[in-house]
Amino acid sequence: MADTVAETQRLRLRTWDEDDADRFYAIMNTPSVMRFLGGVQAPDAWRAAFDRLMTYQRELGFTFWIVERLADREMLGFCGLKRVNYDGAPNAGEVEIGWRLRDSAWGQGIAKEAAIATLDLGFTRFAAPSIVAVTTLHNRASWGLMERLGMVRDPALDYDDPRLPALNPMRQWRLLPEAWTSR
Ligand SMILES: CC(C)(COP(=O)(O)OP(=O)(O)OC[C@H]1O[C@@H](n2cnc3c(N)ncnc32)[C@H](O)[C@@H]1OP(=O)(O)O)[C@@H](O)C(=O)NCCC(=O)NCCS
Repeated sequence: MADTVAETQRLRLRTWDEDDADRFYAIMNTPSVMRFLGGVQAPDAWRAAFDRLMTYQRELGFTFWIVERLADREMLGFCGLKRVNYDGAPNAGEVEIGWRLRDSAWGQGIAKEAAIATLDLGFTRFAAPSIVAVTTLHNRASWGLMERLGMVRDPALDYDDPRLPALNPMRQWRLLPEAWTSR
């Protein structure tokens, strides 16, 4: 049974059930959603990613959680926390926020609403000393959201991801708890 992690005005963030994997793959594995994430995923790549998400929840107590619409329980994507673990990243282990919504949920402030709840959890319940977010400059929707959340780009954390040569360099934005509480 999934646990509720947070509720906002329109959304529930919750843990994953085993049977969420197929539904998530069916609605999220589109060229537009995966455009800046290496393209559509083969089933075995998604299964490996899903297993990693489950492992983060088990070992860290957080992961990229399911974002569900409160009104009808429809799955909209994920948003949550993990630790940086990318090949080439200079800050392995730092707490990272990440998001991915189905395209029908874009442009409604849903990612921002889920991200605010996630940052609150990150700085309170999980006492993160800092939270970063990673993307490529090509992904304007993602870094635009980072900046709307008050995150600040840290050029010292730029790196090249060997899996995503067409998108390099990867860039990172950072938020400190003081900046979050005084926003
Ligand atoms: C990155 C991503 C989550 C951003 O989603 P988003 O919907 O653009 O982000 P927000 O929730 O902040 O919504 C902002 C938009 O909603 C609009 N909006 C509508 N109602 C709103 C409300 N109540 N509150 C805030 N914004 C609202 C804003 O005007 C803005 O529109 P604009 O983009 O036309 O200027 C989304 O593009 C996505 O899932 N992409 C695919 C996966 C991906 O690349 N993930 C990131 C990997 S690094």
